Amino acid sequence: MAIYNLGSINADYFYRVPHLPGPGETLAANGLSRGLGGKGANMSVAAARAGAHTIHIGAVGMDGLWARDQMMESGVDTRHVATLDDTPTGHAIINVDDAGENAIVLLPGANHEIPSKTRAAALSEASPGDTLLVQNETLNQAKTAKTARELGLYVAYAAAPFDATATAAILPFLDFLILNEIEAAQLTAATSKTADALGVADVIVTLGAKGARWLSGDTIRDFPAMPVTPVDTTGAGDTFTGYVLAARDRGLPMEQAIALASRAAALMVTRHGTADVIPDLKEVDEARF
Ligand code: RIB
Repeated sequence: MAIYNLGSINADYFYRVPHLPGPGETLAANGLSRGLGGKGANMSVAAARAGAHTIHIGAVGMDGLWARDQMMESGVDTRHVATLDDTPTGHAIINVDDAGENAIVLLPGANHEIPSKTRAAALSEASPGDTLLVQNETLNQAKTAKTARELGLYVAYAAAPFDATATAAILPFLDFLILNEIEAAQLTAATSKTADALGVADVIVTLGAKGARWLSGDTIRDFPAMPVTPVDTTGAGDTFTGYVLAARDRGLPMEQAIALASRAAALMVTRHGTADVIPDLKEVDEARF
């Protein structure tokens, strides 16, 4: 099986700051680093490092060829990443404070210009039972999800960054929904429905240091988080999503997939950076918590 991921690709600029700046505040950073990121790219790299055949559907500008190449080196199939002449690659300015918390500003760039023919070409290769994954840093999520559903794919959606309109539009086509506690509250406010009443077969609510909750039909199961001291939480949710879907794609029951994803996310928060530092399956298996 394979995972097709319609997703963003960003250059992540990490600024280490003593605290997250407030309105009107000017703050000196202690350091700057650049790496591959974007919720989409992070999820693709996580899924590939978790052992899934992962095909990324996206776009970069001519300034982002390094990002596409880095995804390929991480094991992601990048044949359906378009390179655009007149649009810059998406980027993110990420402030990370001493407690590992972050605040992110995004420029969508090429992520909002993914050609429809790129999406169509990728999905024309997909087979029933494959997975389509989407998030909210691209456009055309619902349209792509609808097509994928009609083709018999398992449709998975990470509702991040939260957008009530985009989420409401895609809900009818979903088999799997993953969101954090804050996004779950936002979704309930927008739809007047709790996560278990959305009509989606599998819903996972990630709870940070408190673990994760899986809702499926009448079943509600809680999974603990590993006890770690976080240095940077950026990309941990993306790592969890890539891992859980890769494990499901390999045929693991959801309980085992969530347990594995929890370990991968725990390892991730002990590292600075995003796609570059997502752990591979061997590291996750060998980690002692
Ligand atoms: O979830 C983390 C990601 O959010 C970063 O890599 C950044 O690019 C933003 O998309």
